Amino acid sequence: MSSTLTKLSALICCMLTTGAYADLETGRELHEENCIECHMMDDHTALYTRADRKVDSLHRLGGQVSACTQILNITWFPEEERDVVEYLNTEYYHFSN
Ligand code: HEC
Repeated sequence: MSSTLTKLSALICCMLTTGAYADLETGRELHEENCIECHMMDDHTALYTRADRKVDSLHRLGGQVSACTQILNITWFPEEERDVVEYLNTEYYHFSN
């Protein structure tokens, strides 16, 4: 009985951990599929890390991602949009708020 419980909690723990990674992974994939072709020069990092980049807070990053999806007529779920924001923030912007 107690070993079942242990297995169960290990399983739940695994699911939670994978979930946290899945967000960024989803964000990366969505970004790769939808966002690279027209920004991006040879190296899309350049847009997000240029000295005069427009986005200067997490709030504005969310706004810019929304704006770009609207221009493109992409219909993402709010969670998908959030995943992409998280991905860009983790990878390039590093805002804490
Ligand atoms: C139709 C072309 C196009 C596509 C596709 C596109 N964008 Fe953009 N995006 C732009 C342009 C142009 C700029 C630069 C605007 C400027 O510099 O005035 C930009 C800028 C940005 C910036 C701000 C960069 C900075 O200065 O800090 C972010 C963030 C961004 N886009 C996110 C996205 C995301 C996420 C997607 C995918 C949903 C996407 N974009 C797809 C055209 C596009």
